[in-house]
Amino acid sequence: MPAPTIKEILKLDGAENRIEVRGWIKTRRDSKACSFAEINDGSTRQNLQIVFDTTKGDFSDILPALVTGTSVRIKGDLVASPASKQKWELLAEKVEIHGGCDAEAYPIQKKKTSDEFLRTVAHLRPRTNKYSAMLRIRSELSFAVHRYFRNNGFFYVHTPIITSSDCEGAGQMFNVTSFDLAKLNELPKNDKGEIDFSKDLFCRRTFLTVSGQLEGEALALGLGKIYTFGPTFRAENSNTYRHCAEFWMIEPEMAFYDLFDDMDLAEDFVKNITKHVLENCAEDLDLFAKFVDTSLHDTLKNVAETGYERVSYTDAVKILEPENERFENKVSWGADFGSEHERFLVETYFKKPAVLYNKPKNNAAFYMKLNEDGKTVRGMDLLVPRIGELIGGSERENRLEVLEKKMTDFKINPENYRWYLDLRRFGSVPHAGFGLGFERMMMLVTGISNIRDVTAFPRVPGYAEF
Ligand code: 4AD
Ligand code: MG
Repeated sequence: MPAPTIKEILKLDGAENRIEVRGWIKTRRDSKACSFAEINDGSTRQNLQIVFDTTKGDFSDILPALVTGTSVRIKGDLVASPASKQKWELLAEKVEIHGGCDAEAYPIQKKKTSDEFLRTVAHLRPRTNKYSAMLRIRSELSFAVHRYFRNNGFFYVHTPIITSSDCEGAGQMFNVTSFDLAKLNELPKNDKGEIDFSKDLFCRRTFLTVSGQLEGEALALGLGKIYTFGPTFRAENSNTYRHCAEFWMIEPEMAFYDLFDDMDLAEDFVKNITKHVLENCAEDLDLFAKFVDTSLHDTLKNVAETGYERVSYTDAVKILEPENERFENKVSWGADFGSEHERFLVETYFKKPAVLYNKPKNNAAFYMKLNEDGKTVRGMDLLVPRIGELIGGSERENRLEVLEKKMTDFKINPENYRWYLDLRRFGSVPHAGFGLGFERMMMLVTGISNIRDVTAFPRVPGYAEF
């Protein structure tokens, strides 16, 4: 059996006091009779204090090598600590170095901890307090997502990563091909001189998915309530605090739900997973509340407990238009809202999360259900403080003729969506769903202000190292 983790050691009741621990040295300080080292293994934010009592053993050879970053295996007695902040400390007896560390060259130093710098050493930042806390919360939040849906009768499904359809119709897709793009001149061409994808591996043009929704709809129309939780990709050149080229999305899809059922679910879901993190990640959250965002607890309480505002797009325009002098992009009916407008609504105007619904059809995806007014669709966005849009969703167009007409308007070739139209041909039902950007949810619960710092190895324009 491997040695217990520090998290397990700190929970011991004192019956077992001969133990072994493994981890990385955080700091060491020497006094006359004793040296002390703090060791961490990633299992918890807390370090275990190791005491080297030089009156009881000779550590003079090994101590100088126990510098920040060194990995060690230490055996000894676990004893009650006289210091008030910790329950236990370990009296070292046998010390073995797994891997030494050149303290001068080690990039994870106390003095070099800006987020920008740490992104350049993303392979080492999991060893810092902040990023290990972020990653532990990320793990717990993922678990909360599965727990929520499982408890509410949803099935977890896996939709394809390689797809031939553009769900959002925004043309922001990464190409997937088996062609050797380094040999452009040798690619097969058709009569018109265009690349002939019928000769490619899938005999058609394919992409990395921007959303699992379309396939999710097919699965919901067989299983009732499903959700996906997987990676999605957008080739948009958006260099902002809230856009990544690769991000994880949670997409529930429900047969027999209308737009308002969809909003109810979105609100309940966000509240539930926020509460789960508050209840299960208190120690790590405290780090963020102390060093990253001092209003974090108030924000999370607000997200977890208050009723969310519901506002139609048309009413939101009436709120925003008189405030136009404060916005870079001016608002009028028909305009797409940006983060400045979304954040004004939730941070300044409502002072709580809000669901914006019934958006103009012109800047909405083709699959959203057309309202009776012929101008708006049954789409909704859930907006939260500091981030703006956290969720985008809609009731889906379930009427075959209306959908066909919309596809023509959007210049989408129905040939490529034959199977999607079949869902409306054979036993069509009202249905709805949404997508929650997992990294944005992570930004919300940690207070971290840049999406590059809530994922271990971010993929953003100009950056795909690691
Ligand atoms: O609003 P979006 O584009 O909606 C869809 O993809 C729908 N097909 C979802 C559905 O109804 N099943 O994206 C959904 C959410 C956004 O609200 C946002 O949180 C996140 O995904 N998102 C991004 N997160 C990080 N980087 C990006 N580039 C993102 N684009 C969208
Ligand atoms: Mg959206």
